[in-house]
Amino acid sequence: MKNIIITGGAGFIGSHVVRLFVNKYPDYRIINLDKLTYAGNLANLKDIENCPNYRFVKMDICDFDGVLRLMQEEHVDGVIHLAAESHVDRSIKDPFTFAQTNVMGTLSMLQAAKLYWESLPEHFEGKRFYHISTDEVYGALQMTHPDGIEPPFTTRASSGEHHMAYGEKFFTEDLKYQPHSPYSASKAGSDHFVRAFHDTYGMPTIVTNCSNNYGPYQFPEKLIPLFINNIRHRKPLPVYGRGENVRDWLYVEDHARAIDLIFHEGRVAETYNIGGFNEWKNIDIIKVLIKTVDRLLGRPEGADLDLITYVTDRAGHDLRYAIDSSKLQRELGWEPSLQFEEGIGKTVRWYLDNQEWMDQITSGEYEKYYDSMYSNR
Ligand code: NAD
Ligand code: TYD
Repeated sequence: MKNIIITGGAGFIGSHVVRLFVNKYPDYRIINLDKLTYAGNLANLKDIENCPNYRFVKMDICDFDGVLRLMQEEHVDGVIHLAAESHVDRSIKDPFTFAQTNVMGTLSMLQAAKLYWESLPEHFEGKRFYHISTDEVYGALQMTHPDGIEPPFTTRASSGEHHMAYGEKFFTEDLKYQPHSPYSASKAGSDHFVRAFHDTYGMPTIVTNCSNNYGPYQFPEKLIPLFINNIRHRKPLPVYGRGENVRDWLYVEDHARAIDLIFHEGRVAETYNIGGFNEWKNIDIIKVLIKTVDRLLGRPEGADLDLITYVTDRAGHDLRYAIDSSKLQRELGWEPSLQFEEGIGKTVRWYLDNQEWMDQITSGEYEKYYDSMYSNR
């Protein structure tokens, strides 16, 4: 496969995937198709923007004619589809945009790929449509132990390995979808369309569902970059509810490596869950962030703990996410490369060292958005 469209390549995860592919596969042509919404930022790709195997195209995935023309022009044989509206809080305020981009946009990408590939003599032979989704489509897990033991406790995933967990159940690939937020409902809808294109037309599709990512270049509306920036500027840290919700965190470069592996070696029509068995309560992560920022800025340890501000809970706030990625580990040998402590240290250092990147985003429109979004805090 030589000519690959990566959608959403100017966003957080997409930029890591584009960088990995451009650097690792000089023979491939990597076309980054991105609309550059508020979340898209070409500064995320400064280091590779002049590489000869890279092209950026500013386009909306909902522009079906434009996407089809681009596929024809570039003889595209692979699509890695990441473009999406991705923030739960925004989806609560504006669900229409999420249905439009995540459902209709994905359908537009699928239909364009289908029409283009069906027009070729080899049809779907050697082609691949890889859709990146989230674990949030599975809904929320409970925090329970069969013997009533207080979480976290040691448990075993289906691989047989032991992990610290906040509940006995994990998200496995065979679970039924139970999305709760407009964001996860729209991602669920897009996943169904992708599978329908395989089942109906024989399109070579793959879907992966990943846990929460963290790392460099994440837009500062998501927990980790937002809080690092707020701690730095000694601004309040708005913790939803009691900070008891559990998320399963994966370093973004490990996700990008998984995407590379699955794109090349994953089985068509399969679903793979991606996650690092790394569950954390929000409040515990927040304390780690405060400690790390304080240490790196030479402030007395814990000096900023008083920034923690409990605010009204997110509507429909999912209690716990926890991915079982045994299938991916078993079939393709993927494992996360970083321990959380190392990953979070690297991440905090990156945001502190790249203040210019943060300042460029947090000036102007961002302030307005942030104030309107969180005026109730
Ligand atoms: P992001 O919000 O940082 O980036 C999204 C990118 O998509 C931006 O560059 C934006 O400009 C682009 N985009 C949005 N609408 C578009 C449109 N209509 N046409 C073209 N481009 C458009 O998102 P992210 O966190 O990097 O997530 C990428 C993908 O991974 C999403 O599909 C998301 O659902 C999925 N995912 C994210 C996480 C996570 O923790 N961030 C976890 C699992 C899965
Ligand atoms: P987020 O980064 O928005 O990811 P997601 O909702 O997709 O998991 O949020 C991670 C967790 O942090 C989630 O439980 C909500 C919580 N959170 C806060 O407590 N305060 C905040 O300001 C934000 C953005 C998130």
